Amino acid sequence: MLQKIQETADFLRSKIPSNPKTGIILGTGLGNLVTQITDKTEIPYETIPNFPVSTVEGHSGKLIVGKLGDVEVLAMQGRFHYYEGYDMKAVTFPVRVMKALGIETLLVSNASGGVNPDFEIGDLMIITDHINLFPEHPLRGKNFPELGTRFPDMSEAYSKELIAKAKQIAAKNNIKVVEGVYVGTTGPTFETPAEYRYFRTIGADAVGMSTVPEVIVANHAGMRCFGISIVTDLGVPGKIVEVSHEEVQEIGNSVQPLMTLIMKELIHQA
Ligand code: HPA
Repeated sequence: MLQKIQETADFLRSKIPSNPKTGIILGTGLGNLVTQITDKTEIPYETIPNFPVSTVEGHSGKLIVGKLGDVEVLAMQGRFHYYEGYDMKAVTFPVRVMKALGIETLLVSNASGGVNPDFEIGDLMIITDHINLFPEHPLRGKNFPELGTRFPDMSEAYSKELIAKAKQIAAKNNIKVVEGVYVGTTGPTFETPAEYRYFRTIGADAVGMSTVPEVIVANHAGMRCFGISIVTDLGVPGKIVEVSHEEVQEIGNSVQPLMTLIMKELIHQA
């Protein structure tokens, strides 16, 4: 694995003119932020050695390096989901590569189903913590001390400092944000009403099919993390209606300019 990480990092270093310290992973249909990146170098995933190839509709699957305002960033447009069939080492491989490239702060976005009864469709939820319900742990197996410690601390998986800054940015711009715990589960089914109820019972505010593996690996690698989720549907008793991938993308699309604004300002302050 170490060799593969190095090989991929070396390849990308030869393509990338700068040394970004901020990494971004954009969720389903949430590529809007990349339109604001200037001096862009775009690298399609399929050209990157050792990278898995994203297959889900709504993911264009490329790495974009450039400037967001005056900050160098490395953004992943489209991620690798466990439900696509990749194992957890593949799902989180890009985060390993980011670390090898010198990324220190990771921002992630996703779409989720809200299970907090106070939430509304279209809410932006700042992720304060997560619950890992994936059946495979990305750090299972031999630990490489070069990558991180055997038993990583997860007491502040999402940086309190970045959360506080994001809340300030939202308030200043009159953007409604909520905060909460994200539970990561495999999908690809959306939840049954009983499953939504279960996730609420165990302490979640929203449920989705990503993010948790990447944030675990980023923490293992000593990176600071920030996560934001667009609540695209509700798993709240009395409010559960049929949900589709298209609807998830539609709601995501309508809200993402606000999310982009928060992420962009946060990157400037981070
Ligand atoms: N459940 C799981 N993942 C999701 C949902 C949901 O309701 N909405 C968007 N992603």
